[in-house]
Amino acid sequence: MSSLLELQDVVFGYPSRPIVLDGVSLTLDEGERIALTGANGAGKSTILQLAVGLLRPHFGRVVAFGDERTSEADFQEVRRRMGLVFQDPDDQLFCPTVLEDVAFGPLNLGIPPDEARAVVDRTLETLALAHLRDRVTHQLSGGEKRLVSLATVLAMEPEVLLLDEPSNGLDEATTLRLVEILSGLPQAVIVVSHDAHFRRRIALREHRLVDGRLIDHVPRCPNAAPPEDRAAAE
Ligand SMILES: Nc1ncnc2c1ncn2[C@@H]1O[C@H](COP(=O)(O)OP(=O)(O)OP(=O)(O)O)[C@@H](O)[C@H]1O
Ligand SMILES: [Mg+2]
Repeated sequence: MSSLLELQDVVFGYPSRPIVLDGVSLTLDEGERIALTGANGAGKSTILQLAVGLLRPHFGRVVAFGDERTSEADFQEVRRRMGLVFQDPDDQLFCPTVLEDVAFGPLNLGIPPDEARAVVDRTLETLALAHLRDRVTHQLSGGEKRLVSLATVLAMEPEVLLLDEPSNGLDEATTLRLVEILSGLPQAVIVVSHDAHFRRRIALREHRLVDGRLIDHVPRCPNAAPPEDRAAAE
């Protein structure tokens, strides 16, 4: 079975800035759910953006769906099959209303308007967001925007989901619902999260980004660990 996504020894830094990723390797197989964690500014969001070609590595390879990806055309295909939910919902949502935002992806994929409308209704229903369908997007609360961001990506039915801090700012009940929804999805998932409980509920495998490299991170029960270890485990 070939992997859905492989980052091979990826090195990356932003212009005029120190190197952020110094040889990152990561493999995502079908049906897998992986969590990434690490300090603020470690480079987690950068990894997700490299995976879908919004950034390009200085060195190393991005292999998606069995092929090495280098050109914009390569990555356009990747982005149709791999949905990234941005850390900041304002980077994701750009239409006047929720309906238009969630319909945008399916329409862009060539789905006829009637069908796209049905996809929107189904997706919003799944996320218990039907009541937001006709709302003005920029008037939504932070948590509502985050869930609508997820809806815009789920509506395109990608084969892989890349989620950048999806539970950030969500209340407890909504976080639990998100866990249930994500756990029930057939897609492979990479989830970035600072919330150890959330990561543990979603993913079997965790990596921590330290000094530009991913290391395996063995989750431990926070209740059993002394406070200093507990802080390190987050
Ligand atoms: N467009 C940019 N230009 C220059 N530097 C950037 C840019 N975007 C991010 N950085 C820097 O690159 C580093 C990695 O950023 P990134 O957003 O990937 O971190 P992160 O691990 O996702 O952090 P957080 O947990 O705070 O979301 C940080 O030092 C950040 O300041
Ligand atoms: Mg980030």
